[in-house]
Amino acid sequence: MTRLLGISGSLRAGSFNTALLRAAQSRLPPGVTLDVATLKAIPLYDADREASEGLPAAVTALKEQIVASDGVLLATPEYNNGIPGVFKNAIDWLSRPHSDAARVFRDRPFAVIGASPGGFGTILAQAAWLPVLRTLGARNWSGGRLMVSRAQQVFDAQGAIADPKAAEQLEQFLAGFVAFATAERTVIERWHALVASRNFDGLDQLLADDVVFQSPAVHSPQVGKAVTTKYLVAALHVLNTDQFRYVGEWHGEQSAVLEFETAIGDVQVNGVDMIWWNPAGQITRFKVMVRPVKALQTLIPLMAQALQGSR
Ligand code: FNR
Repeated sequence: MTRLLGISGSLRAGSFNTALLRAAQSRLPPGVTLDVATLKAIPLYDADREASEGLPAAVTALKEQIVASDGVLLATPEYNNGIPGVFKNAIDWLSRPHSDAARVFRDRPFAVIGASPGGFGTILAQAAWLPVLRTLGARNWSGGRLMVSRAQQVFDAQGAIADPKAAEQLEQFLAGFVAFATAERTVIERWHALVASRNFDGLDQLLADDVVFQSPAVHSPQVGKAVTTKYLVAALHVLNTDQFRYVGEWHGEQSAVLEFETAIGDVQVNGVDMIWWNPAGQITRFKVMVRPVKALQTLIPLMAQALQGSR
Protein backbone atom coordinates (compact mmCIF):
# COMPACT_ATOMS: atom_id res chain seq x y z
CA MET A 1 0.00 0.00 0.00
CA THR A 2 1.33 3.45 -0.92
CA ARG A 3 0.35 6.27 1.40
CA LEU A 4 0.27 9.85 0.17
CA LEU A 5 -0.39 12.86 2.32
CA GLY A 6 -2.05 15.94 0.84
CA ILE A 7 -1.66 19.28 2.58
CA SER A 8 -3.97 22.10 1.58
CA GLY A 9 -2.53 25.57 2.03
CA SER A 10 -5.95 27.13 2.59
CA LEU A 11 -7.99 27.29 5.79
CA ARG A 12 -11.18 28.24 3.95
CA ALA A 13 -14.12 25.81 4.25
CA GLY A 14 -14.88 26.27 0.55
CA SER A 15 -11.23 26.10 -0.51
CA PHE A 16 -10.58 25.09 -4.10
CA ASN A 17 -7.23 23.66 -3.07
CA THR A 18 -8.76 21.44 -0.40
CA ALA A 19 -11.41 20.44 -2.97
CA LEU A 20 -8.63 19.51 -5.39
CA LEU A 21 -7.11 17.15 -2.81
CA ARG A 22 -10.53 15.66 -2.00
CA ALA A 23 -11.07 15.11 -5.72
CA ALA A 24 -7.67 13.42 -5.87
CA GLN A 25 -8.75 10.88 -3.25
CA SER A 26 -11.09 9.17 -5.71
CA ARG A 27 -8.70 9.37 -8.67
CA LEU A 28 -5.71 7.51 -7.30
CA PRO A 29 -4.07 4.51 -8.91
CA PRO A 30 -4.96 1.18 -7.26
CA GLY A 31 -3.23 0.46 -3.96
CA VAL A 32 -2.73 4.14 -3.10
CA THR A 33 -4.37 6.16 -0.32
CA LEU A 34 -4.35 9.91 0.20
CA ASP A 35 -4.98 11.52 3.59
CA VAL A 36 -5.77 15.22 3.55
CA ALA A 37 -4.20 17.28 6.32
CA THR A 38 -5.34 20.68 7.47
CA LEU A 39 -3.25 23.54 8.81
CA LYS A 40 -6.05 24.90 10.99
CA ALA A 41 -4.43 24.21 14.39
CA ILE A 42 -0.96 25.48 13.45
CA PRO A 43 -0.08 28.76 15.15
CA LEU A 44 2.22 31.46 13.81
CA TYR A 45 5.87 30.50 14.09
CA ASP A 46 7.47 32.13 17.11
CA ALA A 47 11.05 31.21 18.01
CA ASP A 48 10.45 32.29 21.63
CA ARG A 49 7.53 29.91 21.88
CA GLU A 50 9.58 27.15 20.33
CA ALA A 51 12.38 27.76 22.83
CA SER A 52 10.09 27.76 25.86
CA GLU A 53 7.44 25.19 24.89
CA GLY A 54 8.89 23.20 22.01
CA LEU A 55 6.77 22.30 19.02
CA PRO A 56 2.97 22.75 19.17
CA ALA A 57 1.12 19.42 19.20
CA ALA A 58 -0.43 20.13 15.78
CA VAL A 59 3.03 20.56 14.26
CA THR A 60 4.35 17.34 15.78
CA ALA A 61 1.25 15.46 14.59
CA LEU A 62 1.62 16.76 11.03
CA LYS A 63 5.32 15.91 11.04
CA GLU A 64 4.54 12.32 11.94
CA GLN A 65 1.88 12.18 9.22
CA ILE A 66 4.54 13.25 6.71
CA VAL A 67 7.07 10.76 8.06
CA ALA A 68 4.49 7.95 7.75
CA SER A 69 3.78 8.87 4.13
CA ASP A 70 5.47 7.74 0.92
CA GLY A 71 4.98 11.11 -0.69
CA VAL A 72 3.47 14.54 -0.05
CA LEU A 73 1.20 16.56 -2.29
CA LEU A 74 1.13 20.29 -1.54
CA ALA A 75 -2.03 21.98 -2.85
CA THR A 76 -1.07 25.61 -2.86
CA PRO A 77 -3.19 28.68 -3.33
CA GLU A 78 -1.44 31.75 -4.76
CA TYR A 79 -1.51 35.04 -2.88
CA ASN A 80 0.00 38.10 -4.49
CA ASN A 81 1.95 35.90 -6.87
CA GLY A 82 3.58 33.98 -4.05
CA ILE A 83 3.10 31.32 -1.36
CA PRO A 84 0.32 32.17 1.14
CA GLY A 85 1.78 32.98 4.55
CA VAL A 86 -0.37 30.33 6.23
CA PHE A 87 1.23 27.60 4.14
CA LYS A 88 4.80 28.81 4.36
CA ASN A 89 4.38 29.30 8.10
CA ALA A 90 3.34 25.66 8.50
CA ILE A 91 6.29 24.36 6.49
CA ASP A 92 8.61 26.56 8.54
CA TRP A 93 7.28 24.99 11.76
CA LEU A 94 7.64 21.53 10.22
CA SER A 95 11.31 22.22 9.51
CA ARG A 96 11.99 22.76 13.23
CA PRO A 97 14.12 21.83 15.03
CA HIS A 98 16.68 21.92 12.25
CA SER A 99 18.18 18.63 13.47
CA ASP A 100 14.86 16.86 12.71
CA ALA A 101 14.20 18.46 9.31
CA ALA A 102 16.00 15.74 7.33
CA ARG A 103 13.81 13.02 8.88
CA VAL A 104 10.71 14.85 7.70
CA PHE A 105 11.76 16.24 4.32
CA ARG A 106 15.06 14.93 3.09
CA ASP A 107 14.68 12.72 0.06
CA ARG A 108 10.91 12.46 0.50
CA PRO A 109 8.92 12.69 -2.75
CA PHE A 110 6.97 15.97 -2.95
CA ALA A 111 4.79 17.45 -5.65
CA VAL A 112 3.01 20.79 -5.86
CA ILE A 113 -0.43 21.40 -7.36
CA GLY A 114 -2.77 24.35 -7.03
CA ALA A 115 -6.09 25.92 -7.93
CA SER A 116 -7.10 29.53 -8.33
CA PRO A 117 -10.04 31.45 -9.75
CA GLY A 118 -7.57 33.42 -11.86
CA GLY A 119 -6.26 32.56 -15.29
CA PHE A 120 -2.81 31.31 -14.33
CA GLY A 121 -3.74 28.56 -11.86
CA THR A 122 -1.09 29.29 -9.16
CA ILE A 123 1.84 29.11 -11.58
CA LEU A 124 3.88 31.63 -9.60
CA ALA A 125 3.09 30.14 -6.20
CA GLN A 126 4.13 26.73 -7.50
CA ALA A 127 7.40 28.16 -8.79
CA ALA A 128 7.96 29.85 -5.43
CA TRP A 129 7.84 26.46 -3.71
CA LEU A 130 10.84 25.18 -5.65
CA PRO A 131 13.62 26.90 -3.65
CA VAL A 132 11.85 25.98 -0.41
CA LEU A 133 11.67 22.29 -1.32
CA ARG A 134 15.24 22.35 -2.54
CA THR A 135 16.45 23.88 0.72
CA LEU A 136 14.64 21.18 2.66
CA GLY A 137 16.19 18.47 0.50
CA ALA A 138 12.84 17.08 -0.63
CA ARG A 139 12.71 15.06 -3.86
CA ASN A 140 10.46 17.32 -5.88
CA TRP A 141 8.61 15.72 -8.80
CA SER A 142 8.75 17.95 -11.83
CA GLY A 143 7.49 15.41 -14.35
CA GLY A 144 4.00 16.90 -14.50
CA ARG A 145 2.16 20.13 -13.77
CA LEU A 146 -1.31 20.77 -12.48
CA MET A 147 -2.48 24.36 -12.42
CA VAL A 148 -6.24 24.58 -12.12
CA SER A 149 -7.29 28.01 -13.35
CA ARG A 150 -10.84 29.45 -13.38
CA ALA A 151 -11.46 27.17 -10.39
CA GLN A 152 -15.02 28.41 -9.87
CA GLN A 153 -15.90 26.83 -13.23
CA VAL A 154 -14.02 23.61 -12.50
CA PHE A 155 -15.60 22.76 -9.14
CA ASP A 156 -19.33 22.56 -8.43
CA ALA A 157 -21.01 23.96 -5.31
CA GLN A 158 -20.18 20.77 -3.36
CA GLY A 159 -16.50 21.02 -4.29
CA ALA A 160 -16.58 18.11 -6.76
CA ILE A 161 -14.76 18.45 -10.09
CA ALA A 162 -17.34 19.26 -12.72
CA ASP A 163 -14.86 19.67 -15.57
CA PRO A 164 -13.90 16.29 -17.12
CA LYS A 165 -10.70 17.68 -18.63
CA ALA A 166 -9.47 18.89 -15.24
CA ALA A 167 -10.42 15.54 -13.71
CA GLU A 168 -8.38 13.73 -16.34
CA GLN A 169 -5.39 16.02 -15.80
CA LEU A 170 -5.59 15.38 -12.06
CA GLU A 171 -5.70 11.62 -12.62
CA GLN A 172 -2.68 11.75 -14.94
CA PHE A 173 -0.75 13.90 -12.51
CA LEU A 174 -1.45 11.50 -9.65
CA ALA A 175 -0.40 8.48 -11.72
CA GLY A 176 2.89 10.20 -12.61
CA PHE A 177 3.61 11.26 -9.05
CA VAL A 178 2.81 7.83 -7.62
CA ALA A 179 5.11 6.19 -10.18
CA PHE A 180 7.86 8.61 -9.17
CA ALA A 181 7.28 8.14 -5.43
CA THR A 182 7.27 4.37 -5.61
CA ALA A 183 9.93 3.78 -8.26
CA GLU A 184 12.57 1.29 -7.26
CA ARG A 185 15.72 3.26 -6.59
CA THR A 186 19.14 1.86 -7.30
CA VAL A 187 21.52 0.95 -4.50
CA ILE A 188 23.72 3.90 -5.44
CA GLU A 189 20.79 6.36 -5.47
CA ARG A 190 19.84 5.15 -2.00
CA TRP A 191 23.45 5.40 -0.84
CA HIS A 192 23.71 8.97 -2.15
CA ALA A 193 20.47 9.90 -0.38
CA LEU A 194 21.73 8.44 2.87
CA VAL A 195 25.04 10.32 2.64
CA ALA A 196 23.28 13.58 1.74
CA SER A 197 20.81 13.30 4.60
CA ARG A 198 23.37 12.06 7.15
CA ASN A 199 20.51 9.89 8.30
CA PHE A 200 21.65 6.33 8.79
CA ASP A 201 18.20 4.80 9.37
CA GLY A 202 18.25 3.43 5.82
CA LEU A 203 21.51 1.51 6.34
CA ASP A 204 19.81 -1.51 7.85
CA GLN A 205 17.79 -2.08 4.67
CA LEU A 206 20.70 -1.25 2.40
CA LEU A 207 23.20 -3.75 3.84
CA ALA A 208 23.11 -7.53 3.38
CA ASP A 209 23.42 -9.53 6.61
CA ASP A 210 26.78 -10.98 5.54
CA VAL A 211 28.17 -7.70 4.14
CA VAL A 212 31.95 -7.30 4.28
CA PHE A 213 33.59 -3.96 5.01
CA GLN A 214 37.21 -3.30 4.05
CA SER A 215 38.67 -0.20 5.60
CA PRO A 216 41.65 1.69 4.20
CA ALA A 217 43.53 1.28 7.48
CA VAL A 218 42.96 -2.34 8.54
CA HIS A 219 43.88 -5.32 6.39
CA SER A 220 41.41 -7.84 7.78
CA PRO A 221 37.89 -7.55 6.38
CA GLN A 222 35.09 -6.78 8.83
CA VAL A 223 32.26 -9.23 8.37
CA GLY A 224 28.58 -8.70 9.12
CA LYS A 225 25.97 -6.00 9.20
CA ALA A 226 26.58 -4.79 12.75
CA VAL A 227 30.30 -4.15 12.38
CA THR A 228 29.91 -2.72 8.85
CA THR A 229 27.24 -0.34 10.11
CA LYS A 230 29.59 0.75 12.87
CA TYR A 231 32.43 1.43 10.43
CA LEU A 232 30.23 3.22 7.90
CA VAL A 233 28.60 5.42 10.52
CA ALA A 234 32.04 6.27 11.94
CA ALA A 235 33.47 6.95 8.46
CA LEU A 236 30.54 9.14 7.49
CA HIS A 237 30.85 10.97 10.78
CA VAL A 238 34.55 11.70 10.18
CA LEU A 239 34.55 12.25 6.40
CA ASN A 240 31.10 13.58 5.64
CA THR A 241 31.84 17.18 6.50
CA ASP A 242 30.44 20.18 4.62
CA GLN A 243 33.27 19.71 2.14
CA PHE A 244 32.45 16.12 1.26
CA ARG A 245 31.43 15.49 -2.32
CA TYR A 246 31.48 12.66 -4.79
CA VAL A 247 33.45 13.66 -7.88
CA GLY A 248 33.28 10.56 -10.07
CA GLU A 249 31.29 7.41 -10.55
CA TRP A 250 31.96 4.16 -12.47
CA HIS A 251 29.31 1.48 -12.74
CA GLY A 252 29.55 -2.28 -13.17
CA GLU A 253 26.62 -4.68 -13.33
CA GLN A 254 26.13 -5.00 -9.58
CA SER A 255 28.94 -2.81 -8.44
CA ALA A 256 30.13 0.77 -8.60
CA VAL A 257 33.13 2.86 -7.69
CA LEU A 258 32.48 6.33 -6.30
CA GLU A 259 35.36 8.77 -5.97
CA PHE A 260 35.11 11.35 -3.21
CA GLU A 261 36.95 14.41 -2.00
CA THR A 262 36.76 16.05 1.37
CA ALA A 263 38.92 17.85 3.89
CA ILE A 264 39.66 17.25 7.54
CA GLY A 265 40.87 20.60 8.85
CA ASP A 266 43.44 21.61 6.25
CA VAL A 267 44.21 18.05 5.17
CA GLN A 268 42.80 17.19 1.75
CA VAL A 269 41.33 13.72 1.46
CA ASN A 270 40.73 11.87 -1.78
CA GLY A 271 39.31 8.39 -1.87
CA VAL A 272 37.06 5.80 -3.43
CA ASP A 273 34.16 3.76 -2.17
CA MET A 274 33.95 0.44 -4.00
CA ILE A 275 30.50 -1.02 -3.57
CA TRP A 276 29.13 -4.44 -4.58
CA TRP A 277 25.53 -5.55 -4.16
CA ASN A 278 23.33 -8.61 -4.61
CA PRO A 279 20.27 -9.00 -6.85
CA ALA A 280 18.05 -8.05 -3.89
CA GLY A 281 19.65 -4.60 -3.90
CA GLN A 282 21.63 -5.06 -0.69
CA ILE A 283 25.28 -4.14 -0.37
CA THR A 284 27.46 -7.22 0.07
CA ARG A 285 30.90 -5.62 0.07
CA PHE A 286 32.09 -2.09 0.78
CA LYS A 287 35.74 -1.19 0.32
CA VAL A 288 37.18 2.24 1.05
CA MET A 289 40.59 3.45 -0.13
CA VAL A 290 42.10 6.78 0.75
CA ARG A 291 44.99 8.89 -0.52
CA PRO A 292 47.42 10.55 0.12
CA VAL A 293 49.25 9.03 3.10
CA LYS A 294 48.81 12.21 5.13
CA ALA A 295 45.04 11.92 4.74
CA LEU A 296 45.12 8.31 5.89
CA GLN A 297 47.32 9.21 8.87
CA THR A 298 44.88 11.95 9.85
CA LEU A 299 41.93 9.64 9.39
CA ILE A 300 43.11 6.67 11.46
CA PRO A 301 42.99 8.25 14.95
CA LEU A 302 39.72 10.05 14.13
CA MET A 303 38.13 6.79 12.98
CA ALA A 304 39.42 5.03 16.12
CA GLN A 305 37.84 7.77 18.20
CA ALA A 306 34.53 7.61 16.30
CA LEU A 307 34.44 3.81 16.58
CA GLN A 308 35.14 4.11 20.31
CA GLY A 309 32.23 6.55 20.60
CA SER A 310 29.84 4.15 18.91
CA ARG A 311 30.60 1.29 21.33
C1 FNR B 1 -5.54 36.06 -3.85
N1 FNR B 1 -5.85 35.36 -5.02
C2 FNR B 1 -4.91 35.25 -6.00
N2 FNR B 1 -5.08 34.38 -7.05
C3 FNR B 1 -4.10 34.23 -8.00
O1 FNR B 1 -4.26 33.43 -8.91
N3 FNR B 1 -2.97 34.96 -7.93
C4 FNR B 1 -2.73 35.84 -6.93
O2 FNR B 1 -1.69 36.44 -6.89
C5 FNR B 1 -3.72 36.01 -5.93
N4 FNR B 1 -3.52 36.86 -4.88
C6 FNR B 1 -4.37 36.82 -3.80
C7 FNR B 1 -4.04 37.52 -2.65
C8 FNR B 1 -4.83 37.39 -1.53
C9 FNR B 1 -4.43 38.10 -0.27
C10 FNR B 1 -6.00 36.62 -1.56
C11 FNR B 1 -6.86 36.47 -0.31
C12 FNR B 1 -6.35 35.97 -2.70
C13 FNR B 1 -7.11 34.65 -5.13
C14 FNR B 1 -6.99 33.25 -4.64
O3 FNR B 1 -6.50 32.45 -5.67
C15 FNR B 1 -8.38 32.75 -4.21
O4 FNR B 1 -8.77 33.43 -3.04
C16 FNR B 1 -8.41 31.26 -3.99
O5 FNR B 1 -9.75 30.86 -3.85
C17 FNR B 1 -7.59 30.84 -2.75
O6 FNR B 1 -7.47 29.46 -2.67
P1 FNR B 1 -8.54 28.56 -1.88
O7 FNR B 1 -8.79 29.20 -0.55
O8 FNR B 1 -9.79 28.54 -2.73
O9 FNR B 1 -7.90 27.20 -1.78
